[in-house]
Amino acid sequence: MSATGATEFNWVPQAAAIAREAGARLREFFAQGVVAEYKGDADLVTVADRASEKLIRDRLAAAFPEHGIYGEEGTRDRIEGQFRWYVDPLDGTTNFAHGFPQFCVSLGLEERPKGLAPEEDGSLVAAVIYDPMRDELFVAERGRGAQLNGRPMRVSRVPELREALLATGFPSRKRHRNPNIHFYQEFTLRSHGVRRAGSAALDLAYVAAGRVDAYWEFNLNPWDTAAGVLLVEEAGGRVTNFSGGPFCLDSREILASNALFHRELLGFFSDMFAGRDLEPIPSPREFAERCELQLRGTGDL
Ligand code: IPD
Ligand code: CA
Ligand code: CA
Repeated sequence: MSATGATEFNWVPQAAAIAREAGARLREFFAQGVVAEYKGDADLVTVADRASEKLIRDRLAAAFPEHGIYGEEGTRDRIEGQFRWYVDPLDGTTNFAHGFPQFCVSLGLEERPKGLAPEEDGSLVAAVIYDPMRDELFVAERGRGAQLNGRPMRVSRVPELREALLATGFPSRKRHRNPNIHFYQEFTLRSHGVRRAGSAALDLAYVAAGRVDAYWEFNLNPWDTAAGVLLVEEAGGRVTNFSGGPFCLDSREILASNALFHRELLGFFSDMFAGRDLEPIPSPREFAERCELQLRGTGDL
């Protein structure tokens, strides 16, 4: 804290300026329209992803010459050092490529003490997520709280799943192996609803801002989560894996909440994985047959 009581961030101002500059480039590309290429069966990349990563890489190297950079589009600079930035230069590429204005730049800084094994996590110490379409800047530093556009940001106070608005996402690779549609269905029935907006980093930022009360996803990468996890924790929330163990950058799965009903969510994950208490859901065929009966005046939808 400064003499005036204001929080002083060390890494955030420079990282925020970089994220804003990259966000401005993304806004220009978005206005022009871009052509997408395929990285996988539904995994897209555009010229904007690459241009944004190059800009962020150059600016981070100039601002923090000793820091490592680990970017989605292939940057692996100085990653053996004490500090490492996880860079998602454009989170929400599918939205971006379709003209759907929900995407962001995500920069998360990890401090890795000497001697840490490559597979071990250090500590997330700074986070910047910038949504260029809404001009919203979400930031945090470890132990100093979280802010949205310069104002303190807290998770929601919703006490239970029944009253919660949730968020999730679905992977763009190996989609047929993913069970999340079952979780989507069950959580939809047990809450106020589940949003699938297409940017994992913004989903986490929205938990931190109290706009959604919990978020989960399978199959993520460190560049999707590093910044958002610190935002949620510094805003008073909780982040774990699906069993309640510590979240790890490489663990791929994430459950983030306002902390108040995290245990309830974990119990629900445990029931789901054990196949307990699943609500029956009509198959499309059963539904069509019921419609037919209703048309004949003998059934109820
Ligand atoms: C994707 C988004 C999406 C999530 C996918 C991610 P990208 O990141 O965060 O919300 O569901 O799993 O891969 O590819 O747009 O950077
Ligand atoms: Ca991403
Ligand atoms: Ca990306």
